Amino acid sequence: MSFLDIAKSRYSVRDYMSKKVEQEKLEKILFAAHVAPTAANLQPVRLIVVQEEEGLKKIGKAANIYEAPLAIIICSEHTKAWTRPFDRKQTVDIDASILTDHMMMQATELGLGSVWICYFKPDVIRQEFRLPDTLEPINILAIGYANGNPADPERHVTQRISFNELVHYEKL
Ligand SMILES: Cc1cc2nc3c(=O)[nH]c(=O)nc-3n(C[C@H](O)[C@H](O)[C@H](O)COP(=O)(O)O)c2cc1C
Repeated sequence: MSFLDIAKSRYSVRDYMSKKVEQEKLEKILFAAHVAPTAANLQPVRLIVVQEEEGLKKIGKAANIYEAPLAIIICSEHTKAWTRPFDRKQTVDIDASILTDHMMMQATELGLGSVWICYFKPDVIRQEFRLPDTLEPINILAIGYANGNPADPERHVTQRISFNELVHYEKL
């Protein structure tokens, strides 16, 4: 499958089988995160892989992960992230999200479903996983085998803004 075919076949999965994700597949997903770029190659991102019942319950206090058997909490370490000197903007969200996207696309290529989650209580994640103050949980990626029929890979024609609204050559 081409990259575009994989990207079109990905959709947010909110209903999972209880089947565990195989270790080999999990490792491929994590390797995809490892090769992702970050600003100035500072690599401020840390991943917490959660698949034990106790850890999934802890996440459940902070977020709905749709009973996925695997969740990865993608965190950024503020003391290590790049800061743009002109306006002091830190790239913590961007770096964490590139790793998240790499893992999400790798999961799709492996036949797994996933959903990217930002609707979570960060203070609860911090407390449950005893995160240091400088480590911010940015995204949670829930992964597993999807229940039900996959979404139509051609749905973007109606479910995304028009190409013309998105893309502007040379000027807005
Ligand atoms: C940054 C970001 C945050 C998201 N947060 C959530 C979330 O908290 N819960 C959820 O169910 N879906 C979440 N989603 C999934 C989006 O709702 C979904 O990607 C979007 O509606 C497009 O649908 P699709 O992924 O099926 O193509 C998030 C996606 C992104 C990129």
